[in-house]
Amino acid sequence: MKVVFMSLTGQTRKFVNKLGFETMELTAGNAFQKMEEPFIIVTPTYDKEVTDILTDFIETDQNCAYFKGVAGGGNLNFGKLFGFTAKDLANDYGVPLLHLFEFQGNEKDIQILKEKVTELG
Ligand SMILES: Cc1cc2nc3c(=O)[nH]c(=O)nc-3n(C[C@H](O)[C@H](O)[C@H](O)COP(=O)(O)O)c2cc1C
Repeated sequence: MKVVFMSLTGQTRKFVNKLGFETMELTAGNAFQKMEEPFIIVTPTYDKEVTDILTDFIETDQNCAYFKGVAGGGNLNFGKLFGFTAKDLANDYGVPLLHLFEFQGNEKDIQILKEKVTELG
């Protein structure tokens, strides 16, 4: 399983680098990259204009068919808005919301997401 992520201030990058899966960082330069293997997305939480790159990517070519789940980083101080980017993607594309974590996550967050990804196969 490939882990596709975006990161503006580096928290999500630190998190995914601890997972031990193959990763691909989404940037403006590769947002329309075609995928030919299953992937999950790990995303921080920001306003939609900031995370549009994710929908560009998912809707490129057949990518949607390979999109298997989503996890999200955020900040609990945002209350009800905690992790809404990942929640919205899960709803919009009908994929499982695998896990939500704060900032770069902790050991337990890593363990939970690894298990969830293993379950996905
Ligand atoms: C302008 C701004 C808006 C944010 N809005 C939210 C939010 O609505 N909900 C949330 O859970 N976290 C929010 N966050 C927190 C980030 O999602 C969190 O710090 C994340 O770990 C950043 O990941 P990154 O360093 O990979 O970009 C916001 C952060 C900033 C700077």
